[in-house]
Formats: sequence, C-alpha cells, structure tokens
Amino acid sequence: FGVTLDLTIILFCVLDRMREVDLGSGRALLIKEHGEFTAMGHKCPHYGAPLVKGVLSKGHVRCPWHGACFNIATGDIEDFPGLDSLPIFQVTFHTGCTHHIILFAGQSPAGLVCAETLREEGFTDRIVMCTMDKHPPYDRPKLSKSLESTAEQLRLRSMDFLQDHDIELLKEKEVVAIDVKTQSVIFEDGLRMEYRKLFIATGSKPKPMNYKGKDVRNVFHLRTPEDANSIAWLANNKNAVIVGTSFVGMEVAAALTDKAHSVSVIGIESVPFKKALGEKVGKAIMKLFEANRVKFYMLNEVSEMVGHHGQLKEVVLKSGKVLRADVCVIGAGSVPATGFLKQSGIHLDSKGFITVNKNMQTNVDGVFAGGDVVMFPFQPRNNKKVNIPHWQMAHVHGKVAALSMMGRATEVKTVPYFWSAMFGKTIRYAGYGDGFDDVIIQGDLDELRFVAFYTRSEEVVSVASMNYDPIVSRVAEVLGSGKTIKKRDVE
Ligand SMILES: Cc1cc2nc3c(=O)[nH]c(=O)nc-3n(C[C@H](O)[C@H](O)[C@H](O)COP(=O)(O)OP(=O)(O)OC[C@H]3O[C@@H](n4cnc5c(N)ncnc54)[C@H](O)[C@@H]3O)c2cc1C
Ligand code: FES
Repeated sequence: FGVTLDLTIILFCVLDRMREVDLGSGRALLIKEHGEFTAMGHKCPHYGAPLVKGVLSKGHVRCPWHGACFNIATGDIEDFPGLDSLPIFQVTFHTGCTHHIILFAGQSPAGLVCAETLREEGFTDRIVMCTMDKHPPYDRPKLSKSLESTAEQLRLRSMDFLQDHDIELLKEKEVVAIDVKTQSVIFEDGLRMEYRKLFIATGSKPKPMNYKGKDVRNVFHLRTPEDANSIAWLANNKNAVIVGTSFVGMEVAAALTDKAHSVSVIGIESVPFKKALGEKVGKAIMKLFEANRVKFYMLNEVSEMVGHHGQLKEVVLKSGKVLRADVCVIGAGSVPATGFLKQSGIHLDSKGFITVNKNMQTNVDGVFAGGDVVMFPFQPRNNKKVNIPHWQMAHVHGKVAALSMMGRATEVKTVPYFWSAMFGKTIRYAGYGDGFDDVIIQGDLDELRFVAFYTRSEEVVSVASMNYDPIVSRVAEVLGSGKTIKKRDVE
C-alpha cells in the first residue's frame, strides 16, 4: 500500500503488543509479536470492530466481536465471518527508538466465499452462482436484528464487484434436480446447465409445523429482506406473536418491542435458549425480555392460526389460551434445503443433510457441499460428523471447498463462532456445546455481565458471554490452538 510506518515517531511502548496508529490519511494497527513488527488495517472488515481490542496470538489477530482472524503478516482472513482481508503496511525502522463451468447452487455465504476464493487462487474459467433469492448475496443474520433494513443496505457484494470478478449470478432460479451422470443441473424453468465442478450450498428452510389454519395470511418464516420488512410494517402498533425461543425468534421479539402494541412469545421449553445456553442463562435473558414488556407462554405449542377474511387475528395454543395476533413469526427450527437431491445419488443422511468428507467433497466425484446443508467431520469431536448452521462456519466451508476444487485439499480448521443481539446487548458464543452437561458461570447474570463455560465431562466445549469482551475470542484462540481447557482451569 506504499505507506511506511516510521517507528521513531510512533513511540511504540515495549509492553504494548497492538496499538492503533495515525498515518495521517487514516489509521493502522501496529503489531509487535516475538520482536517482529507488522502493520495492517485496524478495523475488522466484517462489522468494523476495533481489532486493537481483539486477541493477538501466534501470527494472527482475532476480532473481539465475532471471532474473525487475520494473518498479521499478510492481512489474509484466516477465519470468518467477513469476506475481505485487511490491507497490510510496510514497517521500516529508523534507529533512535486463474473453460470449466463451476456452478453453485446457493449464493450466500458459503457459495460466495467459494467463488471468491477460486478467483483469489487464480481460477480463470466460468463461475456461475444461482439462487432462489431476488437479490445478490446479503447479510442474512441481520434480518432478525434489523427488520427494516433493505436488501440494498444488507448487500455483501455489489453487482459491480461480482462483474469485476467475473462471477455470474442467476437470480430467482430454482434448481429442481441434479443429474450426476451427465453432470448437469436442471432448473425449474427447464433450463439445463452442465458443470465440471458443483458446489451445493442451498442452506436451510423452515421446519414444517403442525397446526390448523395454514392458509391464514401474515404468518411468516423469516428468510428474506421482504419478510423482515413486512413483519416490521405489520407489527406497527399491532399485536405480534413469535413462535420459537431460539435465536431468530428471540431476536425478532426484541426488535419488535419498540414498534408493536404487544409482543408474545411461545416456546416449547421452560425458558428461552435452554438447549443452547442452559437454564440459568436462559432465565436471565428471559427477565431482560420481560422487563421490555414481552409476555412468554412457555411449555406451550400452537394449535391453530385463526383468521378473518384470511387475515391472521388469533393464535390458539394447545393449552387453550387464545392470543390476539396481527402478525406471527415462526422461528421454530429448520431443515436442510436438499429435497431436490433425493434421486441424485448424492448421499443424504436420514435427516436430509448432505454428508461430506473433511475436504467438503460428497460421495460423488466433482460435487462438493458446504454451509447449513452438510454434516462434516469435526476434528475436536474426533471427526464425528456434525452440522453447525452458523454464518461463520458457512464461510469456512466455502473456502475449504474451493481449495479442494483447485486440487489443494485442506481441512476445516476453525472454532465455531456465533453471536446474537437483543436490546443493544450481544451474546457471543464460541465452540461446539452440543451435549454439554454442566455450566460454570462467572460474572453477574442479573446484571447481564457474565461468561458461561459449557463443559462435557471435565472439558470446556464452548463459551458464551454478554458484556465480557474479549473473553469469547480469547477462549476461541485457546481452543483454536488445539489446546483443551479443563473444568478445573476455569474454576
Ligand atoms: C433470520 C436469521 C438470522 C440468523 N442469524 C444468525 C446469526 O446471528 N449468527 C449466525 O452465525 N448465523 C445466523 N443465522 C444462520 C445463518 O444465516 C446461516 O447459518 C447461513 O446463512 C448459512 O449459509 P449457507 O451458505 O449455508 O446458506 P444460506 O445463507 O441459507 O443460502 C442458501 C442459498 O441457496 C439458495 N437456494 C436454496 N435452495 C435452492 C435451490 N433449490 N435452487 C437454487 N438456489 C437455492 C437460496 O436462495 C440462498 O441463496 C441466521 C439465519 C436466519 C434465517
Ligand atoms: S466485526 Fe470483527 S468478526 Fe465481526
């Protein structure tokens, strides 16, 4: 970047390991590790976190907010979320102080990272991405946190960017079948397209639910910016009912409290987030919602949506309780969007997930898959196949698949990282906590300033925090280095 940092004028304190410095035309992050100085961009390209507040370890800096990692020598993004790498700067001392069609079913973010990685790695032939969406790739996690954002505001890459990188995008194009013998993809409109390599990243779709009144309008599954905008608009001064108490449902409930007349939440568990975060953390967060006028109907299920002229008016619960409702959002789990693969010969497990090997390759030559649709071997659990439906993990899969397609097989090496935001507070989460059997909490749950360590037998498998930065990135750093954290270390 042709900018030189002059260390005589920076007066870099010997004990400091990272410091933001002013270059006149902007700022940079100056880093000292093992006596070596390097400098790179100071803001995380994901949501702009100040990296100086992150964690520096073994040649990379991990962002304090959602865990992205950047190589301090090259600025390369080595773990996700986020699409961009960072610029690097030269530090000087002055004494004194690359015609194959690659086709993607699915465009975001696993598909997008895969396409971009192929271009970064020198792939020069044709790349086609197809999506059922109306829009170029957008930031899906923001849908439930910022309901009024438009697709334009949420865009991850502009059409110009895609054109500049010669990535073709076919919008509103549904794949209905894949013929692995002729290596072709068949679209709903009858179009057939041949591929040499295929990457399937079709994500999740809402889990079907059993209730009466499926034809009633204003009941949403939140998947697109249009859904989010409609929910916000319809809830204005009206009664909103949310079904499901995991992340999407709770985020929507929080986002609607300052718009809606009433917000009611229905959950099958005793407290929200019980499965993911445990009873104690769930209870503390429930209180935060109750303090913001949200009414809970826990250990309950929907029996019927009642409409008037097809318009939602009431949600009836299995307990018999009737809730007034003008809009209802269902966030009650998802299933892999792989129905179109049933006859393809590509292996699906009993729940419909595509099974891949450590290089994201399916059982069919030349066909790769990643993101929410896959069960992949997870090294920290002795390569047991798991599904981790996180935004960050989809990025990682996209990169690993691209490198495998280029013949540079590599493995998934990452610590799963997840976040959720409600009432201006963020829950950060790292690791894979499935099947945790104990939770060690430090800090103050009532004040919502805490860190929770989830353990299985004697080992910490994941961590969650609120107002306790950068503890989650710090733990991710330790787990990422291959070390284990024992229960007694925490205690
Ligand atoms: C409202 C909401 C909030 C979320 N918040 C968070 C969060 O805070 N943090 C987090 O880590 N994760 C969050 N997630 C989960 C995260 O969005 C997913 O893990 C991630 O998007 C998965 O990426 P993917 O590339 O596998 O597929 P997706 O992002 O689901 O994209 C799938 C793509 O495939 C296309 N597609 C599907 N079927 C077909 C077909 N038959 N033919 C053609 N195209 C097809 C779709 O149109 C879409 O373009 C959230 C999800 C939702 C819905
Ligand atoms: S702002 Fe750095 S990972 Fe999100």
